Amino acid sequence: MYTAATDRYNRMRYNRSGKSGILLPVISLGLWQNFGTADEYAKMKHIVLGAFDRGVNHFDLANNYGPPGGEAERNFGRMLKDELAAYRDELFISTKAGYYMWPGPYGEWGSKKSLVASCDQSLKRMGLEYVDVFYSHRPDPHTPVEETMQALDYIVRSGRALYAGISNYDAARTRKAAAILKELGTSCLLNQPRYSLLDRWVEKPATDDKRSLLDVTEEEGMGCIVFSPLAQGRLTDKYLKGVPADSRAGRGLPNGAIGEKDLPAEMLERIKKLNKLAGNRGQTLAQMAIAWLLRDPRVTSVLIGASNLEQLENSLEAQNGPAFTAGELAAIETILNS
Ligand SMILES: NC(=O)c1ccc[n+]([C@@H]2O[C@H](COP(=O)([O-])OP(=O)(O)OC[C@H]3O[C@@H](n4cnc5c(N)ncnc54)[C@H](OP(=O)(O)O)[C@@H]3O)[C@@H](O)[C@H]2O)c1
Repeated sequence: MYTAATDRYNRMRYNRSGKSGILLPVISLGLWQNFGTADEYAKMKHIVLGAFDRGVNHFDLANNYGPPGGEAERNFGRMLKDELAAYRDELFISTKAGYYMWPGPYGEWGSKKSLVASCDQSLKRMGLEYVDVFYSHRPDPHTPVEETMQALDYIVRSGRALYAGISNYDAARTRKAAAILKELGTSCLLNQPRYSLLDRWVEKPATDDKRSLLDVTEEEGMGCIVFSPLAQGRLTDKYLKGVPADSRAGRGLPNGAIGEKDLPAEMLERIKKLNKLAGNRGQTLAQMAIAWLLRDPRVTSVLIGASNLEQLENSLEAQNGPAFTAGELAAIETILNS
């Protein structure tokens, strides 16, 4: 049985999630990739326990993580049972439902039937009585948002989760979801969108709302936890000299993982320039990309992935870098627009 590092909470900063009582680490760990059947259990355990030793107490899962789906929750459940049982009350664990999990009409999207059944499956796989946050993983164009929010409200009221969350909702859908949940008496703790130097849609005013997703999330009192901050590894130096076979792009992974086609020459040129700028700041590009997100007070936590502990350690150092000068911020904009 593992014993956690006693100085773990001195090694991490914590932000309040919106207008809630919950503090989250400024950097959290997600188990979307690298926690499946093709990955070595000892290595994933090293990453998770290493993260906890460094103050990362929020772990983000979903029914479909692994790959294949279900496997990340199963592996994480094993770690919870064998290593982390004594620390359950220090951990903040999330899971989600919305993407394809099982055949037939209830195995994906946003019906109450689908979300409740999936939540029960997730709890079983992880050996948990409850998760801390349960998310609607994506909006469902065919299910009334009222029903999806009723499902989240039910999941919280029935004790399966402590808090509700939404992911991949745009500004207008976020407002609507927040209003319905408020009326039901369950507030939305977290909004989880994609956000990185290479994907800045959350900053743009929405055509139907005039406010950006970041603005709406803040106005609704939710926290914001942003995923794929390294654009799945592109915002590092790893692809500047070709595609390593053991990298995410090189492994040919299913379900939204990047491949070689997602590394066009113009993008690599920009990444080269960003990498140089990061070096001038005394940081790796990964650290600069994370620090750039964290400078916005509307961002509660940056949700990273890692395929080994060294990457995680490197990324966590983003907390300790220098503040950005106006000149550096302008240089980043120039590079991104080149
Ligand atoms: N809600 C949603 O729809 C949704 C969607 C996607 C992700 N997420 C959440 O967000 C989490 C993070 O997503 P992500 O894995 O795409 O995040 P990411 O941090 O952008 O990418 C992680 C990958 O970047 C590389 N990497 C990480 N740190 C590095 C470092 N310091 N130096 C060099 N390379 C480094 C590794 O690639 P290699 O594997 O190539 O080594 C790693 O697997 C997921 O686990 C999940 O919890 C949510």
